[in-house]
Amino acid sequence: MKIKSIPIISNYMLNKFRTIKVDQDLKLVILSPKNASEIFALTEENRDYLGKWLPWVSSATSINDSSNFIIDSLNQRKMGKTFGYGIMYKRKLVGHISVMYVSEKDKTLDIGYWISSQFAGLGIMTKCVTSLTYYCFNKLDAQKINISAEITNFGSNKVAQKAGYKRLEKQEIKDGRTFNIWQISRDTL
Ligand SMILES: CC(C)(COP(=O)(O)OP(=O)(O)OC[C@H]1O[C@@H](n2cnc3c(N)ncnc32)[C@H](O)[C@@H]1OP(=O)(O)O)[C@@H](O)C(=O)NCCC(=O)NCCS
Repeated sequence: MKIKSIPIISNYMLNKFRTIKVDQDLKLVILSPKNASEIFALTEENRDYLGKWLPWVSSATSINDSSNFIIDSLNQRKMGKTFGYGIMYKRKLVGHISVMYVSEKDKTLDIGYWISSQFAGLGIMTKCVTSLTYYCFNKLDAQKINISAEITNFGSNKVAQKAGYKRLEKQEIKDGRTFNIWQISRDTL
């Protein structure tokens, strides 16, 4: 018998927040397969910059791969478990940010992100993480949100810290890499 997955986030909520306005120049938008060539171009232009930290980069070798990534994200979104947004800065797609449930029981989410090197250092990711965090607590009823940042990834650790996350004592090792776990909790806001 096929077990139907129960969405954690109602379709109403998912459809309501298709765009999250961060500020005048910055918004988070749901991508469609039409954005595949832009996502692939960003991946190509930033292959070394992103590939250093993100394992998926080496296997994204065609527009088709980017298209499959977007389609997969849309399917995940329908199931209410993971939802991703393109980062639009001054109407240009510059990066991506996503949220996924790591514990449904504890309402704990994980945020992951990347931005084109051309737009790094402008404070964009700190603003996006701050907005998405607010959205998760206030609209999705999240209790805790985590960010895993490799210990040597200064930029990513700094983003988490600047967005108000606190570093947990424990670290995680994945594929021989060591990650800091940053966390923000609804109770401590
Ligand atoms: C890490 C990353 C998301 C930062 O995005 P960003 O938009 O440049 O971040 P912000 O501009 O909001 O910067 C926040 C702070 O981090 C600092 N910072 C950003 N990148 C940095 C880097 N490579 N080295 C050191 N500090 C860095 C900024 O100077 C800023 O600090 P300040 O306000 O004190 O000056 C971006 O560099 C990136 O996409 N990197 C590659 C992919 C990646 O690492 N993703 C995260 C995986 S966990």
